[in-house]
Amino acid sequence: MTTAIATKVFADRIGRIEVSATMAITAAALKLKSEGVNLADFGAGEPHFSTPRHIKDAAIEAIEKNFTRYTNVAGIPEVRKAVVDRHACDFGSNYTPDECVFTTGGKLALFNAIQVLVDHGDEVILPVPYWVSFKDIIQYAGGKVVLVEGEEEKNFRITAKMIEAAITPKTRAIILNTPSNPSGAVVAPEDLEAIVRLAHKNGIYVLLDECYVYLNFTGEIVSGGSFTDCKEHILVLGSLSKTYAMTGWRAGFALGPKPVIAAMSKLQSQSTSNTASMVQRASIAALTGSQECVTEFRADYIKLRDQVLEGFKTIPGLTCTVPQGAFYVYPNVSKFIGKGGIKSASDLAAKLLSEAHVVVVPGEAFGTAEHIRLSYAVSHDVVVEGVRRMRDYFATLG
Ligand SMILES: Cc1ncc(COP(=O)(O)O)c(C=O)c1O
Repeated sequence: MTTAIATKVFADRIGRIEVSATMAITAAALKLKSEGVNLADFGAGEPHFSTPRHIKDAAIEAIEKNFTRYTNVAGIPEVRKAVVDRHACDFGSNYTPDECVFTTGGKLALFNAIQVLVDHGDEVILPVPYWVSFKDIIQYAGGKVVLVEGEEEKNFRITAKMIEAAITPKTRAIILNTPSNPSGAVVAPEDLEAIVRLAHKNGIYVLLDECYVYLNFTGEIVSGGSFTDCKEHILVLGSLSKTYAMTGWRAGFALGPKPVIAAMSKLQSQSTSNTASMVQRASIAALTGSQECVTEFRADYIKLRDQVLEGFKTIPGLTCTVPQGAFYVYPNVSKFIGKGGIKSASDLAAKLLSEAHVVVVPGEAFGTAEHIRLSYAVSHDVVVEGVRRMRDYFATLG
């Protein structure tokens, strides 16, 4: 008697996603670094600052005091209170701790939100350019990504009118990430309000990725979460990673309607459970302590952005929108495609890495084929050296 041999190795859903493109470029860069190559690394999207002392101390104290056990799945009440109080103080929102779930990084907040809201065939509207993970996370849930192109000439502006044109009976959610990774574009407050109101009117969730909300350089820091009369359809996805230079700690959260938060917590109870207990204590210190570090980081990013943009002016053919936030620039490299055997932005990124030892991420990862992304969360010296290498390399393309 013969037994049937299963030929299927993996579940279909894992075939619907790709490895994160930013992680792939980081891996290639790490390999070169390990071979002793000196790189000007604009690849990874994380602050170059160290986590502030008072945040580290809170974690150390938590460990010393044996605060090392399981906690409530959604986070201890104190951390959820710290999140909602910070948000209320800075943006005028009115969430309660049971409208908050603390997650192992902002990415997990997004992942869980999509898992609980999006079914097979549901549509999710996503502005272009988009952060790499949005698309894959939607597809993993079986959802369909509906892209809306931002207008590059208008700093990748997205308006309610553009979103409205993409709404169908299957639309389940709209994702807004402002300031944006990769373009640094900020959705103007009036556009943000119009989009939130449009979503509310249509019974569609608006997922506000506020990972960079404090890295807004316009002087007017707003959150879509402040439109409290539309709360029923708003989900704020937050992160401490960039705000407090805490990428490795994995601290994020979601604020939203109680039933959605409860569903996300239920999902979390069957996967990661609580965020590391000492990280929750460190996060309380970050959220309730002095916010001076945030102001300092922001001021330095503005200087770095200006330095990069000044440097770009010395590279003929390279054009770039002026980012209003985050720590990325997204120059248009279309003038170089077709020169020196370069066929695409990916090709260019690969050449910049191998020939100029400059790490950038190709625009294809973010839904545009004519750009590269540089993270300028690096030292001022790296900016100077990196821009010089790029200028020299681009000059060889004629
Ligand atoms: C737009 C955006 N959202 C969310 C995240 C997730 O951040 P984390 O999971 O570190 O909180 C990132 C990280 O790069 C991001 O760029």
